[in-house]
Amino acid sequence: MTIDLTRAAVYEREVSASLQRVWENVHDWEHLPWLHAQAFCGIELLDSGPWGWRARVQLTPRELDRHLVIELRCEEGAPTYHTRTLEGPGSGSDTRTTLSARGDHRTHVRVEFWIPEGEPSVVRATGDALVTLYTGLWDQDDIMMQRRQAFFEGRLGRVKPPPIRAAVPLGPDSTLRARLPYSVEVEGQRFRLRESEGQLVAHAALCPHLGGPLEEAEIVDGYLVCPWHGYRFSLTDGSNPDGRRCAMATPPRVEIDGTGNAHLVFESAEPGR
Ligand code: FES
Ligand SMILES: [Fe+2]
Repeated sequence: MTIDLTRAAVYEREVSASLQRVWENVHDWEHLPWLHAQAFCGIELLDSGPWGWRARVQLTPRELDRHLVIELRCEEGAPTYHTRTLEGPGSGSDTRTTLSARGDHRTHVRVEFWIPEGEPSVVRATGDALVTLYTGLWDQDDIMMQRRQAFFEGRLGRVKPPPIRAAVPLGPDSTLRARLPYSVEVEGQRFRLRESEGQLVAHAALCPHLGGPLEEAEIVDGYLVCPWHGYRFSLTDGSNPDGRRCAMATPPRVEIDGTGNAHLVFESAEPGR
């Protein structure tokens, strides 16, 4: 059955990311419930390929248990991609997004929201709500894409630590604890020093997946959880417990010597390396 659609609203903006970064983001279905947790709280991939992806998405808040099946479809070389709601609230809707490069790190985005025909006031209200939603989503994507660009250009530092065998001095334990949390740079790689369950811990500030920010990443049951795609990394050895082919180098330990001075100690044998 064909559903008649009407254009509820148009949203246009520019983002500070190259066309390449934006397309990468379009295909990145995994970030939805993490970066956009205010809108989505779960995702199950049903299919994907060069054409795009199809997924069952759970809407926030989790208690309402509302699901959509979304299909994102693009054609090679075409500037417009379609995000269609196949099942769930708003079924039949087709969001058409057109991307145009405006410079090395600038892309224009035009989004047309096509929804099933209905009462004009309802269509208007739905259009307004979609513009508000997409403004927030693209704001978050813009920040992520800019950081990814810096990551790929190596401006955020090294992902893997240099082969340090010696302990790096951090000063007196009491001073260190009073400053927490803070970051230190060791031979081009940033580490975050924090306290977790009363223990001093250290870990890389840069996610080895796509450069996500780990400085304030949640620590759950001894695992660091990246806020961009939710990949988990053991604070003990950097391994990923979920079968992802993406591990972090073994995090350094914070050790206190007999004189009360703290040191960042790197392992010489690194399973994550
Ligand atoms: S950047 Fe993807 S999980 Fe961290
Ligand atoms: Fe996004």
